[in-house]
Amino acid sequence: MSLTRTDISARILAGRQPDIADSFEAYAPVNIALCKYWGKRNAVLNLPVNDSLSISLGNKGTTTRLTRLPGAEKDKVFLNGKPVDGESAFCRKVVAHIDLFRPLGSGALRVETRNDVATGAGLASSASGFAALTKALVGLYGLTLSNEELSIIARLGSGSASRSIYSGFAHWHRGVRPDGMDSFASSLDVIWPELRVGVLTLAESEKPTGSREGMQRTVDSAILYNSWPEQADRDIRRLEHAITVRDFTLLGSTAEQNAMAMHATMLASWPPLLYWQPESVEVLQKVWQVRQDGVQVFATMDAGPNVKVLFESNSEPEMRSVFQSMDVIAPFS
Ligand code: DP6
Repeated sequence: MSLTRTDISARILAGRQPDIADSFEAYAPVNIALCKYWGKRNAVLNLPVNDSLSISLGNKGTTTRLTRLPGAEKDKVFLNGKPVDGESAFCRKVVAHIDLFRPLGSGALRVETRNDVATGAGLASSASGFAALTKALVGLYGLTLSNEELSIIARLGSGSASRSIYSGFAHWHRGVRPDGMDSFASSLDVIWPELRVGVLTLAESEKPTGSREGMQRTVDSAILYNSWPEQADRDIRRLEHAITVRDFTLLGSTAEQNAMAMHATMLASWPPLLYWQPESVEVLQKVWQVRQDGVQVFATMDAGPNVKVLFESNSEPEMRSVFQSMDVIAPFS
């Protein structure tokens, strides 16, 4: 019989003595993958085909406050100060995540979630959202969980959330066990103060195909996807080496090639998946031009049209003048 998400959370929470508070607030950062998570070996438990590696964006993320609602029957969810429709996909996902902890006895909760980045700003809020919600739940129940356990529970909400438990660089190990107890992220424990991530918001509209559906379609229909695990394995090794020896060119070029390879597998799916807009191509070409002119800058893209660029602090003045609308983030400040 296949395992459910509740089976996994029950295993982690078994035997714990909760000490429930009235209210608890927690924060988790957004993360950008330098080696992408694309494809699942188990869609129920969000177990990935490949390892991935990310950088968290410091103080850009999600803050979630949970407050007990004694006597209420249902959770009440607020996003950026506004109530969320109980039937919406967002609300259902949040409630399903809280349900993983409900056997410990909190009853209904008020959930207030705030994102530091505007919705649609090209930064995945589900990663920081489920990581913050997991931390807030653990805090509300007065539990002490290891980072690995937090990462596993966050992963049950959204795969990339497993990495948002940490600041700085995080490596999500795909694991091999069917129950996924070895599929969690760990911190690389390295700081790189000069590293900068620029976010170029090109489109704010909701994407037609979410990453969950997009990665499933790729796995199911793209023959090119067969080469993806090999690409990811190589890139993880290169990135770890680049981070150890502080080789920015190796870091950036590996991240860019990894993102392009992921998008190639999307395009090779049927029906084809193309997240790029004409403006995305324009920005990529500008990045390549600036690089040819001698600035060390590299691009990465996720399942949407927005482009993120990687550079170091010495290139910041030049990058700001080339991309004037760019939001610059210093992950280690
Ligand atoms: C392209 O974590 O959003 O951003 O596990 O189905 O919730 P689910 O998918 P999600 O996928 C993120 C895909 C990506 C690459 C990455 O962040 O590694």
